[in-house]
Amino acid sequence: MSSKNFYLSSKHSDDAIELPVLNSTIGHNVIDIAKIPQTGCFTLDLGFGATAACESKITFIDGNKGVLLHRGYPIEELAEKSDFLETCFLLINGELPTSSEKENFLRSIQKHRNIDGSTEQLLKGFPRGSHPMAMLCTVVAAMSATYNSNTDITSAEDRMLTIYRLVAKMPILAAMCHRHFIGQPFVATDDRLDYAENFLNMMFGTAGKESTVSPVLAKAMDLIFLLHADHEQNASTSTVRLSGSTGANPYACIASGIAALWGPAHGGANQAVLEMLEEIGDEKHIESFILRAKDKEDSFRLMGFGHRVYKNFDPRARVMKVSCDEVLAELGLENDPLLKIAKRLEQIALDDPYFVEKQLYPNVDFYSGIIMKAIGISPEMFTVIFATGRTIGWIAHWNEMLSSPYRIGRPRQHYTGYGKRSYPA
Ligand code: CMC
Repeated sequence: MSSKNFYLSSKHSDDAIELPVLNSTIGHNVIDIAKIPQTGCFTLDLGFGATAACESKITFIDGNKGVLLHRGYPIEELAEKSDFLETCFLLINGELPTSSEKENFLRSIQKHRNIDGSTEQLLKGFPRGSHPMAMLCTVVAAMSATYNSNTDITSAEDRMLTIYRLVAKMPILAAMCHRHFIGQPFVATDDRLDYAENFLNMMFGTAGKESTVSPVLAKAMDLIFLLHADHEQNASTSTVRLSGSTGANPYACIASGIAALWGPAHGGANQAVLEMLEEIGDEKHIESFILRAKDKEDSFRLMGFGHRVYKNFDPRARVMKVSCDEVLAELGLENDPLLKIAKRLEQIALDDPYFVEKQLYPNVDFYSGIIMKAIGISPEMFTVIFATGRTIGWIAHWNEMLSSPYRIGRPRQHYTGYGKRSYPA
């Protein structure tokens, strides 16, 4: 790619302003527009489709080619050869761990697999049936009270401790939100079980009884966490970076990421997919929903289709589709009516010129929702599970930002309101 600088003329002077072009290792280079205000203008980029907000070394996406790399490794290879916790190590440290580094990392996570009594009390204070995302957002924000005085964000050691705590506690908190949501007592964490198995046992097990979690389902759960681990500067990650840029407590920053993830245009889409499939109800109604999705006058969108960045295919969705078939076969659910609607919908949308022309392919949330429904997870929990996997991405970006010089994030605006006027006499 060319690295020629750009020149813009300013209304305040005859001289052109030189805007340096910064080379990226792969993908688009960026124009450094810090000098733009000298032209008398700001830039406007609604939805940030053309604006980089930071420099990062963690994740690279090429949406046109369907490429997703974590620290250079393709997501398909990580999904096949790695596991969630190893990918966490990679995202944080930049390299895959040696076997002793991996052992130490797992031990550090293990040490923090507990929840204090006040968090448990806080959860129990929610009315039964409260949305699990509301509970998760609150209990994670509350961790900022528990770990406020002893979290020095300028210390690399304290930041690492924060990372261990969050990665270890998120699935425990997620499972506790679920148990409270369905009105069941909490199941204690079992140190003999691995990350995903322990999560599923806390979700569905019986207190005091041995885990009966199927290895196929534990593997599928680990894969769901891994495929959601990071996705560069998406809405929730950008929210965490923006909150973090003020020097805020990291648990409060993660809570802000959870809030941003909740919306149906972002992480809430997996719950919305299931609700949409239930609303369709029968294969014979699919056509009318497709017509609604194409109607400009109707705000309805086909949930689980389309992506801001992927305009060819979502590589996570491809991996998830394979896992989806494995899980359905394991559970003997190939003929489940809802899943049949999902498969039919997928086929129709893939063939329909509207979806083909607008490059709207099934995204990761389309298949993850189907897998989680098959495992028996309530749709209200889907976004909580997304948040559990994504926490490592959020905290890796927060840590990257704090590890080098940074400024508070403070966008400008295109003001179109009144000019100055006087208060009526
Ligand atoms: N169904 C029907 N039409 C759609 C859809 C859809 N799911 N998605 C986009 N379009 C149309 C849209 O109406 C627009 O048409 P036109 O050009 O005629 O105005 C065109 O495609 C471009 O859409 P856009 O809203 O400008 O695209 P965007 O990049 O701003 O939005 C999106 C991306 C993911 C928010 C959107 O595709 C969407 O709402 N999808 C459904 C929700 C969903 O599945 N979200 C999960 C995303 S993956 C998980 C994550 O990373 O968070």
